[in-house]
Amino acid sequence: MPLVTSKELLKRAQAEGFAVGAFNANNMECVQAVIETAEEEQSPVILQVSQGAIAYAGLEFATMLVKTAAELATVPVVLHLDHGTDFLQNVRCLRAGFTSLMFDGSSLPLDENIKITRKITEIAHAVGVPVEAELGKIPKVEDNLTQEQVDNLMADPEQAQRFVEETDCDSMAVAIGSVHGMKESIQPLNIERLDEIKQRTGLPLVLHGASGVLCTRADAAEKGVKLEPHQGTLEDAIKHGISKVNVATELSMAYLRGMKEAFEARPGEKDMRKIMLPGKNAVKEVVRYYIKLFGSNGKAGRNGAVSGLTASEIKYHE
Ligand code: G3H
Ligand code: 13P
Ligand code: ZN
Repeated sequence: MPLVTSKELLKRAQAEGFAVGAFNANNMECVQAVIETAEEEQSPVILQVSQGAIAYAGLEFATMLVKTAAELATVPVVLHLDHGTDFLQNVRCLRAGFTSLMFDGSSLPLDENIKITRKITEIAHAVGVPVEAELGKIPKVEDNLTQEQVDNLMADPEQAQRFVEETDCDSMAVAIGSVHGMKESIQPLNIERLDEIKQRTGLPLVLHGASGVLCTRADAAEKGVKLEPHQGTLEDAIKHGISKVNVATELSMAYLRGMKEAFEARPGEKDMRKIMLPGKNAVKEVVRYYIKLFGSNGKAGRNGAVSGLTASEIKYHE
């Protein structure tokens, strides 16, 4: 089916209390793994193209990969730009057919972030495409920050209100304690801060860096992490208003693990496909776990359409 935008999808997720998984599109096997699992679980899904993927595959290849997969899919698929660096890259992605954009101005002064985000929402909205913005800073594990430093980068609720009013963004990535690129899920989230931002903005909110976040309270107990009263897990965050969750590192690790195991089992193998397929299957199991945790399974809608998606929106993307 044709690509859908993230606008109605995230609004519906917000209204019904589930989240949509945004999985990174790095190669054909990973894209197929996401789509096949989404179909098996009857879930809408977001495939996002990161800066690393653009550098690796090129924008054209990455775009075609997701577009082709979406055309063949029986569930709604969004093509999203992950951490868009600037105004011009967003324009290029709009022209390439992305159905959801992001501008990450989190390293800029607030006024500059607002100014560029606003410019992007103006042009994107003219053709019906929604824009995700970022407030606060979601750091990378390579930044080696202390917990206190991570906490100091969290999004400010008052600023969030002003940001939404002045930019007209459609969703907002909020820094609430997660860190990009972690190999282990041990990070708690600040649910109190999430509640405050939710109250002041009313927007669908986005969680980045999900690979490093504790998934459930049982998960926290098993890992010996004691949660403070204001803290919670990924599962709690969805109950408190997170509508889109970005997962990249864990998919990448699963792909590598699946291939490593296959290669160790068949050290003389000469057919690369026999090694890559177990990698893809390992990615599928991670995607399935998250789709179920997010509660988006069974939400693909009748005839593959997301209920609430307007006819004109579908037509626009045909
Ligand atoms: O937030 C970014 C994602 O983790 C993907 O990173 O640019 O290395 O693909 P990447
Ligand atoms: P992880 O790689 O930590 O899962 O983060 C993904 C992400 O936030 C992409 O924008
Ligand atoms: Zn991110």
